[in-house]
Amino acid sequence: MLKHQVLQQLRSCGGFLSGQQISAQLGVSRAAVWKAVDALRQDGYEIESMTRRGYRLVQATPALCREEIRAALPAAHPWRDLIQVLDSVDSTNTAAKNLAAQGAPEGTVVIADHQTGGRGRLGRSFLSPAGVGTYLSVILRPQAKPDQILHLTAMVADAVCQAVDAACGVQPQIKWTNDLVLNRKKISGILTELSVEVESGLVQYVVVGIGLNCNQSEFPPELADIATSISQCTGHPVDRNRLCAAQIAALQQLSRELLTDHAWLERYKAACITLGQDVKLVRGDTVRYAYAEDLTPDAALIVRYPDGSREAIACGEVSVRGMYGYL
Ligand code: BTN
Repeated sequence: MLKHQVLQQLRSCGGFLSGQQISAQLGVSRAAVWKAVDALRQDGYEIESMTRRGYRLVQATPALCREEIRAALPAAHPWRDLIQVLDSVDSTNTAAKNLAAQGAPEGTVVIADHQTGGRGRLGRSFLSPAGVGTYLSVILRPQAKPDQILHLTAMVADAVCQAVDAACGVQPQIKWTNDLVLNRKKISGILTELSVEVESGLVQYVVVGIGLNCNQSEFPPELADIATSISQCTGHPVDRNRLCAAQIAALQQLSRELLTDHAWLERYKAACITLGQDVKLVRGDTVRYAYAEDLTPDAALIVRYPDGSREAIACGEVSVRGMYGYL
């Protein structure tokens, strides 16, 4: 599409580019260039125009766009043709699970600008307003039994940290198991759901869903103390298309290394804000206090109780809180 080519030109130039230069480089009329610039502005790109100097891309906070996400991935990326971008959906995880049940291949990615029923862990909801976040789910099909991929959800947290770093230049921390944190507040949640074939006991598919707060400038009062957005922390708008592409690249690498790589664990430990802290463990009505000491290779949290005994806590088993609130 012409508008994507014009965008590429403006991006790579970095400064002003005249309508004549663009039309010559792309072999189209100046009127077509003007139309493309207009369409980009309607997509949310801020493009300055000056007489005799031409056009300059000021800021990139555009609408989510499949072509933009594809353009930010290498041409040979194996998941490039498996990306769907929706304006609105109840939950990208539900949509991806439906596709997986119909046989969609590994690497099928569903992204939405808005979720009307975004789902979180433990039956909670995930606030997913339009225009400011990325809500992305991917289908994986590891040849494994569920107990071989217990570390998956923690490994996804590490992958998303790398994606945020690559696309936004900031390295989040991780609240065990898989909340991403900046400035001690949550920017992301991850929900992993899987289906197992009863006869073989093998995983049929896994759907990994990632919600990232990108460009929110405020949160409802009940979330204001625990949630933040990347742009609130960095002071810069997030290009959600680049961030989606970075997540897809990181998840594809994860899918290749899921059963073989161990390097992620040291990265995860270095980013994990829970380790080395006193924590409160909530199991139903029971509350215990402990010190978060280490992680097992499966990403279970090793805690030491005041009597010196230790326990490895699998993710999802208990709610782990810091002593003084969310962290
Ligand atoms: C949590 O923090 O409890 C997990 C939140 C996971 C939210 C993401 S957004 C994309 C995908 N679709 C959903 O309905 N949930 C996940």
